Amino acid sequence: MPNSAENRDKLACRCNHRDPPVTDNRDTIYANPVPEPSAFRFDDSVARVFPDMIKRSVPGYTTIIAMTGLLAGRYASPGSHLYDLGCSLGASTLAMRQNVQHRDCLIIGVDNSTAMLKRCQTVIDTDSHEVPVSLVCANLQDIPIVDASVVVLNFTLQFIAREEREAVINHVYAGLRPGGIMVLSEKVTFEDPRLDALNIDLHHQFKRANGYSDLEIAQKRNAIDNVLLRETLGQHKQRIAGAGFGSCDVWFQCFNFASLIALK
Ligand SMILES: C[S@@+](CC[C@H](N)C(=O)[O-])C[C@H]1O[C@@H](n2cnc3c(N)ncnc32)[C@H](O)[C@@H]1O
Repeated sequence: MPNSAENRDKLACRCNHRDPPVTDNRDTIYANPVPEPSAFRFDDSVARVFPDMIKRSVPGYTTIIAMTGLLAGRYASPGSHLYDLGCSLGASTLAMRQNVQHRDCLIIGVDNSTAMLKRCQTVIDTDSHEVPVSLVCANLQDIPIVDASVVVLNFTLQFIAREEREAVINHVYAGLRPGGIMVLSEKVTFEDPRLDALNIDLHHQFKRANGYSDLEIAQKRNAIDNVLLRETLGQHKQRIAGAGFGSCDVWFQCFNFASLIALK
């Protein structure tokens, strides 16, 4: 029903971000002692509880997703591509889709987890906005980025090997149209050890306030610490400037979670 009144109403209130109607499963993955802890992976058990996990674990996540949509609405240019790299269940993809006004745009969601992408397809299929979405199961390092006005990496670069990050950001820059933007959200580290310890502690306090036990926090930390590789905001900014972006700064931060915007 591409031109229904219901659809027009939804397009009219473009800032009213709605979460994907995918699952209300609660994350209890680390609730019991894990005898043989393995490295954190985006497998089916994570995909099943992901919306609950990320909202209770990442301060500001809901704001970052909603504002990603707002930014996409502002910067998407007619006939361009919008990329959601590491799209998981499509939260940023949907936020962009709900805000982009040019129906000749194409949103491309990329993820290398088949479990995530399968569920993401269901989310997209149940959404009725009109901008086309194409989902690609691949390493984001391998996909072409062409004719882009918006490229989003929301909490994805942190899972890429540090030595591969420069090539990723250079590739994003090369694929953006002049005037296009990159949104990069990351868990970051601080040069000052006291500030780093404080922000880690505040993050754990945030998780406790959201119902995670000390056991869950400790076991998740052990599983993810060698997989999620943090860098300082300075390192990110330097890499982004080195790629050629003329302007870049933080537009959101809560504790050790930050989002940057970079303008080509
Ligand atoms: C924390 S989640 C991203 C959350 C998502 N952007 C959101 O805002 O809801 C990280 C995602 O990146 C994906 N990922 C990690 N490394 C990747 C790679 N090299 N290529 C593509 N996807 C990758 C994971 O499978 C996972 O779904």
